[in-house]
Amino acid sequence: MSNIRVKNLTKKFGEVIATDNVSFKVDDGDFLVLLGPSGCGKTTMLRMLAGLEFPTSGEIFFEEEEVTDQPPDKRDIAMVFQNLALYPHMNVFQNVAFCLINQKKNREYIEKKVMEALEIVGIASLRNRMPYELSGGQKQRVALARSIVREPKLFLLDEPLAALDAKIRTTMRSELKQLHKKLKATFIYVTHDQIEAMSLGTRVAVMNEGVIEQVGHPLDLYDRPANRFIASFIGSPSMNIFEGMIKKDNGEYLFQNVDFVLPLSEELVKNNNLSEQEKVTLGIRPEDTDITVEAQEGGVPKGSVLTCEPLGQYNQITLSTGEQEWVCLTDTTILPDPGQEFQITPLMNKIHLFDSQGNNLRKVLD
Ligand SMILES: Nc1ncnc2c1ncn2[C@@H]1O[C@H](COP(=O)(O)OP(=O)(O)O)[C@@H](O)[C@H]1O
Ligand SMILES: [Mg+2]
Repeated sequence: MSNIRVKNLTKKFGEVIATDNVSFKVDDGDFLVLLGPSGCGKTTMLRMLAGLEFPTSGEIFFEEEEVTDQPPDKRDIAMVFQNLALYPHMNVFQNVAFCLINQKKNREYIEKKVMEALEIVGIASLRNRMPYELSGGQKQRVALARSIVREPKLFLLDEPLAALDAKIRTTMRSELKQLHKKLKATFIYVTHDQIEAMSLGTRVAVMNEGVIEQVGHPLDLYDRPANRFIASFIGSPSMNIFEGMIKKDNGEYLFQNVDFVLPLSEELVKNNNLSEQEKVTLGIRPEDTDITVEAQEGGVPKGSVLTCEPLGQYNQITLSTGEQEWVCLTDTTILPDPGQEFQITPLMNKIHLFDSQGNNLRKVLD
C-alpha cells in the first residue's frame, strides 16, 4: 500500500509538452482514474510514475520518499498495459510465475502465490493453457495475475480493457473493482472512456492537454463540472451546450440563443456580476430535459424531432431547435416520429452556465 504525491510534474518531448506542471495526491488504497482524450498525457504520466520515463521537471513521492529519478525496479509497482504481451511459448502458470522465478523464490511459494492470483482473477482452471488458446479477456486476466503475484505497493493500469469487446469490458470492469477491494492496494488507472472512469474510480482526475482540470468523486464531476470541457466530457450522451448571451427583458434575466430564450435566476446573474450582452454558454444534460406536446407558458424552446433511438431503458430523442440540435432522454412511452413538434422543458435548477473562458458559474450557488 502506498500514498503518492506528484508535484509540478512537467514532461517535454522536444516542443511537445506532454504533462504541464501537474500536481496531485493519491491516498493509500485509492482507485484514482486519469481520464482524458487521446494525446492528453495520460500514458506519459503513468510512465513517469513507473520510472519508465523521467520528468523534465517536478517531483514524485511514494510515502515521503522521493522516487523521481529512481529506476522502475526500485519502485515496487506493477504496470498493466493495453497491448499486453504474454510470453507466447509459456503457459498461463509459467507466464504468471515468471517474475517470481526471476526473484529466485522457492517452488512451494511460487505454486501458492500463482494459484492464489489465478483464483483471484478467476482463471485457475486455465493454468496449463498456452496464450494462443486464450480469449482477449482471459489474456488480460493473466496480465493482471502477473501483476498481483508481485504484491506491489501500487498498480498502474494503462487502458487495460480498451482492446476488449464491449461485453467482456463490462465484466472485467466489475472484476477490477472487486479486485481493488480484495487487494486493498492503491490503483492508478488510465482511460479515455468516461463510463469506465465513473464506474471504477474512487476519484477521477480529468486531464486535458497535459493539465489536470479537476479531481473529484465521479458524482462531483458529474454534478459540479468545473468547466465546459469537463461538463461535456463527463456524462453520456454528452451535455447539450448552447452559445448565447445575457439579456434583460421586463426586469427578468434571460439567456438568449440564436434559437430560443430561457429565463435565468437573478441570483446566478447577480452573484457572477454578469451584465447584459455578456457572452455565456449554457449547458443542460439530456437526462435533465423533458419534452411535452402541450404548449407551455413563456418562451420555452420548441423542437422538431430528428431521430428517436429506443435504447430499452429510455429513449434518446434528438430535436432540431432551428440552427441547433438538442438531445433529450425520455421515458419509453414517448416514441415520436421524425418531424413531430415538442416543447422542450429543461429542469432549470440543473442548468450550467459557463463564462467566456469556459468556467462554470454555477458553483456560486452550490
Ligand atoms: N516518446 C515520445 N516522443 C515524442 N512525443 C511523445 C512521446 N510520448 C508521448 N508523446 C507525445 O506526448 C503527448 C501525450 O502523449 P500520451 O501521454 O501518450 O497521451 P495519452 O496516453 O493521453 O493518449 C502526445 O502529444 C504524444 O504525441
Ligand atoms: Mg495512452
